Amino acid sequence: MKRVKEEPNMETKFSVIDEKNIDKEAIAQAGQILKEGGLVAFPTETVYGLGGDALNKESSRKIYAAKGRPSDNPLIVHIAELDKLEAIVQEIPESAKKLAKEYWPGPLTMILKKSQLVPMETTGGLQTVAVRMPNHQVALELIKAAGGYVAAPSANTSGKPSPTLACFVKEDMDGRIDMILDGGQVGIGLESTIVDLTEEMPIILRPGYVTKEMLEKTLGIPVASDRTMMHADCKEAPKAPGMKYRHYAPKGDLTIITGEEQSVVERINCLTKSMREKGEKVGIIGTDETIAKYHADSVKSAGNRKEEETIARELYRILREFDDEGITVIYSEGFAEDGIGQAIMNRLLKAAGHHVENV
Ligand code: TXA
Ligand code: MG
Repeated sequence: MKRVKEEPNMETKFSVIDEKNIDKEAIAQAGQILKEGGLVAFPTETVYGLGGDALNKESSRKIYAAKGRPSDNPLIVHIAELDKLEAIVQEIPESAKKLAKEYWPGPLTMILKKSQLVPMETTGGLQTVAVRMPNHQVALELIKAAGGYVAAPSANTSGKPSPTLACFVKEDMDGRIDMILDGGQVGIGLESTIVDLTEEMPIILRPGYVTKEMLEKTLGIPVASDRTMMHADCKEAPKAPGMKYRHYAPKGDLTIITGEEQSVVERINCLTKSMREKGEKVGIIGTDETIAKYHADSVKSAGNRKEEETIARELYRILREFDDEGITVIYSEGFAEDGIGQAIMNRLLKAAGHHVENV
């Protein structure tokens, strides 16, 4: 599949914007850029998005080029008002109405059958479209100022962790896009849950903050999960084209160590010692409960096990920092695969190329 990444060739405006006191002028300027076919990165509650006019095929092409993303990997269309949904889909199933009522604005993306209005460039050639209403005031205002439909993948170079801070967007996108809106650190830190509503049974294509249990409770029917989400041995192709690419990959070689806390700590310290003797630079992802027990070149706490939300928020930042520090080998503790833990483990497993050791 075609994958082009052009050299940086433009000046990128950088504007700090406070969600609680939004600079209307900056939003108007950013909205105008989008209307004219330009690209603007903006904060959402999940991760930063790289926005373009979703109904303009040239904008979608530019997004692929800025990210170096394969053009068969469809973009999510972001809306700010529910009555904008009708025009971009063939029909709104009852299930979508229920989920929108419960979770929008919020970290849930729904796959629906697309209407003629949405160009194939935006959907990567698919007849379906991914739609989400983000829960972030800056994003909502920007979408309105842009005319209602903003296509936005995560604002990282393809293959890098999604940006949770504007400085990471700058690192990847400076000189490649027109503007970056800096709204500070995002709240959730992992991308939205994606649920496909185009078939008889709803199916989760990517786990996120909104869990399977939450969806089942709202819909009152069982919800399936794409098997490829958590299993390395799965031969099927994932239903979300983007999930087949090796995402979220740090430069260092990452292994996840699972098991009882004490055994995990001992095993990680033992592995670290032998790797350092071989000249590797080792980074460890621990938790508040364990970091004092580790010895390595760089030890970072992802957060508190009692509040797994903190771990979701810090994970991508840590992976990027290890890259900057020149870490060549990374060991991470594992996390329980329930609630937000499932999304955390899904991203960690991808970053580790499914390299897990149970002790
Ligand atoms: O939280 C999020 O969803 C963030 C923020 C910016 O909103 N966006 C995001 O976009 O994560 P992106 O492009 O990095 O990931 C979108 C995923 C990809 O894996 C893509 O393949 C899948 O959604 N996708 C998009 N449209 C699809 C469709 N019509 N059918 C199946 N999968 C689709
Ligand atoms: Mg992404």
